[in-house]
Amino acid sequence: MELKIFKDKQEVAEQFSAYFAEGIKDKTEFHVALSGGSTPKIAFDVLASNYGDKIDWSKIHFYWGDERCVPPTDDQSNYKMTVDHLFSKINIPKGNIHRVLGESEPDREAMRYANLLEINLDRVDGVPQFDLVILGMGDDGHTASIFPHEIALWDAPDHCVVATHPDSGQKRVSINGKVINKAKEVAFLVTGAGKTEKVKVILEKTEGFEAYPAALVNPDSGKLFWFMDEAAARELK
Ligand code: 6PG
Repeated sequence: MELKIFKDKQEVAEQFSAYFAEGIKDKTEFHVALSGGSTPKIAFDVLASNYGDKIDWSKIHFYWGDERCVPPTDDQSNYKMTVDHLFSKINIPKGNIHRVLGESEPDREAMRYANLLEINLDRVDGVPQFDLVILGMGDDGHTASIFPHEIALWDAPDHCVVATHPDSGQKRVSINGKVINKAKEVAFLVTGAGKTEKVKVILEKTEGFEAYPAALVNPDSGKLFWFMDEAAARELK
């Protein structure tokens, strides 16, 4: 695991973009799972403006680690956020964008998306393998859309699960923990003072840390990066 701590959100976005551009450089095909959240939003802006014409986007295939069950035109849609901040600004073939159909019935969509991952990705030990999974962490320690109250979904037998947001009750489709931990690389983007407490508990493994889905992220490859700003990392020893 590697901690990468930078001054603020903007610098996290810049450094993450550089890491991303470097990671795809020698690849002919690259499959990445995106996340929602406020930090990816800035990272997508920076990626588009700094690397928009430097990256051969046609070799990158985009997926989502989680999606809210809303239509793609809804402001809550992670897909829409990515269109607004990244896809609308770069030259990406439509066929490289593999969105979760948030407008479909959630259980059916989780099944369809799991099948799509099986078809499009290589499988290791029967689990689809992404080149990179990008994750955020909620203030409550959730990641992708696996929340503490549904932590059993982490080990669900299906590659994709239907989760329920604890406050709003909104349904989400999420990849499970096995898919996350099978990725060749996993990168957390975590910023802001709201994250300080959980960052400390999870990274220093203090009592009760296993209750948080973000603490279960531990890819077989060993390649786990935490991109954080100083506010999120403030309490770390
Ligand atoms: C989602 C996310 C979620 C997010 C965290 C962090 O769709 O809700 O994928 O897991 O990454 O809630 O969000 P912030 O970066 O906004 O704090």
